[in-house]
Amino acid sequence: MVKICCIGAGYVGGPTMAVIALKCPSIEVAVVDISVSRIRAWNSEKLPIYEPGLDDVVKKCRGKNLFFSNEVEKNVAQADIVFVSVNTPTKTSGLGAGKAADLTYWESAARMIADVSKSSKIVVEKSTVPVKTAEAIEKILTHNNKGIEFQILSNPEFLAEGTAIADLFDPDRVLIGGREETQGGLKAIKTLKDVYAHWVPQERIICTNLWSAELSKLAANAFLAQRISSVNSISALCEATGANVTQVSYSVGKDSRIGPKFLSASVGFGGSCFQKDILNLVYICECNGLPEVANYWKQVIKINDYQKKRFVNRLVSSMFNTVSGKKIAILGFSFKKDTGDTRETPAIDVCKGLLSDRAHLIIYDPQVAEAQMMMDLSLPKFDWDSQPGSPMQIPTDESVSQSVKVVHNAYEATKDAHAICILTEWDEFKNLDYKKIYDNMPKPAYVFDGRNVVDVGKLRQIGFIVYAIGKPLDPWLKDMPAVA
Ligand code: NAI
Repeated sequence: MVKICCIGAGYVGGPTMAVIALKCPSIEVAVVDISVSRIRAWNSEKLPIYEPGLDDVVKKCRGKNLFFSNEVEKNVAQADIVFVSVNTPTKTSGLGAGKAADLTYWESAARMIADVSKSSKIVVEKSTVPVKTAEAIEKILTHNNKGIEFQILSNPEFLAEGTAIADLFDPDRVLIGGREETQGGLKAIKTLKDVYAHWVPQERIICTNLWSAELSKLAANAFLAQRISSVNSISALCEATGANVTQVSYSVGKDSRIGPKFLSASVGFGGSCFQKDILNLVYICECNGLPEVANYWKQVIKINDYQKKRFVNRLVSSMFNTVSGKKIAILGFSFKKDTGDTRETPAIDVCKGLLSDRAHLIIYDPQVAEAQMMMDLSLPKFDWDSQPGSPMQIPTDESVSQSVKVVHNAYEATKDAHAICILTEWDEFKNLDYKKIYDNMPKPAYVFDGRNVVDVGKLRQIGFIVYAIGKPLDPWLKDMPAVA
């Protein structure tokens, strides 16, 4: 029986290993983490992350061939294949701060693997890492030269939060990079390929050299984020000209060379990966003497920041240039629907922008806990490229608790609010009783739709003043000062 151990029971490690366990009953899978609370939650009825379909998969395998444990070293020592799926955030200090990946967690995991191993192992990079990381990891793994063979593979994960289980069941591709030039490398690639072959068609398993696999993940995320920034940049032009971004992206996406996906305009992209991976790509380009390439990709993040600022500016300028003391209902806080993850969610920047103009926020999100929102709004954001003179103002803990209230449904949030701000595309926001909501708001009542979820025409008929990203402006807003 092959034994797999995955270090890191997070958004990637947990769901990925649960699906491997489900699809490969002959393989024993242990998911280990240093966090006691995370492992306790994985072993409980309420899993630590919300993902549609995840509960079901975990229930089917947990205790049979899927185990969650804090006994990191013991499980690593017993495994044939060790996945490393620890967090790789952006460095916040030292060399490469604000751009480079912080590999502290990865390095400590690699050192531990080297120290506790008594048998040969395949070590799999599941985390997203800078290209050439495998070279450093190889050095760490072999540093105490115990005569144990370590083969390192890169097997980046392409799942998207919110659809993780569907993505894992039916991936577009599985990518395995290894040392194709050696017999040991080829054997390791085949071993991992055999795991995925339990349910993934052969033709979708791509095998490459290590560096191609590592770089493909960074490039894929950069391309995805670039599409969003591209359509968001067009959304600003739509508002200025009377074009409708939904019609434009539909027409553009009909071109089979472009395709329809990932062309929805919004208040901006979020999530733990896009920004960090592009920053990482930028840093690698700079380190390799490619400033033009670095600047090209940097622009994707600049447009994302611009879009969030533009949204806040539009809101404030539409409300007579001040939201001081006004109640703003925030619908949605997670970075997208069907996840409770708030890492890099645009809601943080938008809320902070409104708080710095002294608004009162009443926030509702179906999956994000109050404590998480309060923490997100109180923590300073690491602003690697803020323009001089326009730094984000960081609210203090005290000002957040005085100006922010978290409630349990959209009706409570919108009652007596001067404006509604939709920041996550949760399905339930499409079908709210907007007439009832309108009746419970002071007039003029505004809706600022950062995700294009509402029926603009219907809401305007009710009486709302509606701003929707990239849509022709409400006549009311046309007379307001221009938004930069
Ligand atoms: P996460 O933060 O949810 O999980 C990482 C886990 O690793 C944490 O629970 C942490 O306690 C644990 N950990 C850290 N160091 C450890 C150590 N030395 N020993 C044992 N456990 C340790 O992170 P997430 O979102 O799962 O991401 C992991 C990696 O996967 C990152 O590199 C990320 O870029 C990548 N990725 C993330 C995707 C996502 O949608 N979240 C999608 C594809 C890739």
